[in-house]
Amino acid sequence: MSTPEMIIVETHGATGLIRLNRPAALNALCDQLMQELGAALLAFDADPAIAAIVLTGNEKAFAAGADIKEMKHRTYPAVILDDFIGNHWETVLRVKKPVIAAVAGFALGGGCELAMMCDMIIAADTAKFGQPEINLGVIPGAGGTQRLTRAVGKSKAMEMILTARMMDAAEAERANLVTRVVPADQLIAEAMKVAGKLATLSPIALATAKTAVNRAYEQTLTEGVKTERSLFLALFGTPDQIEGMNAFAEKRKPTFRG
Ligand code: CAA
Repeated sequence: MSTPEMIIVETHGATGLIRLNRPAALNALCDQLMQELGAALLAFDADPAIAAIVLTGNEKAFAAGADIKEMKHRTYPAVILDDFIGNHWETVLRVKKPVIAAVAGFALGGGCELAMMCDMIIAADTAKFGQPEINLGVIPGAGGTQRLTRAVGKSKAMEMILTARMMDAAEAERANLVTRVVPADQLIAEAMKVAGKLATLSPIALATAKTAVNRAYEQTLTEGVKTERSLFLALFGTPDQIEGMNAFAEKRKPTFRG
């Protein structure tokens, strides 16, 4: 992978940290940035030394959405032939390791959608979430109408998507869009703490748990429980299950290997 220009990639122990880094454009998500982000996510996912990934922006913006100045030149044939959004935006959904979005400032449009594609969102008290695409004469295109609605319910999602109203961090926590809100100066430390906890757990159990929770969005309750049951039973074939249960019985800390 060539050196990325629009993201900063760091490794902290077993945590991969990716910072979106286009501050002059509030981290607007252009093609180059999305390609660099996708490559960095897949590289961390393939690295056995990495257990979890934190994705963040800067204090002013996680990301203010798709790059409008780049997008305004797109034509219908081009967006179809280039598979705009489909080709680079959803790489995070392919990552098997847990991905935590650490959001400060604006998470708008595609920025909000990118955060919602992560496994959990930890918000700074400065975070603002919104789907303002209606102001541009379009609608959300990277899952916003679906994931926001599932997260916060129809009424709030409708209001945000139809009127472009932003939600502050406190409201986002009340509405279950984010797992919790922390002071802005503690955002990265808090996200790294969660990632550090994940690094002590079984990688195969974590990947399986991700799969099972994600199925809750895609299946009926009965089908989802069936999926969960077969994934749960499959874990009885793993050394980490033996280690985890033996360690409990022997009153010691488990050492998981994946
Ligand atoms: N695309 C391109 N450039 C953007 C941008 C975006 N989404 N958001 C901000 N910028 C640029 C601005 O053009 C400005 O650049 P210049 O200094 O060169 O003029 C710079 O970032 C700083 O922005 P502002 O001066 O506007 O900062 P502000 O603090 O006054 O306002 C804001 C902040 C309310 C977030 C405002 O920038 C804004 O409304 N941005 C657009 C938000 C938006 O509409 N997002 C949805 C995009 S569409 C989408 O995402 C589709 C999808 O579903 C995939």
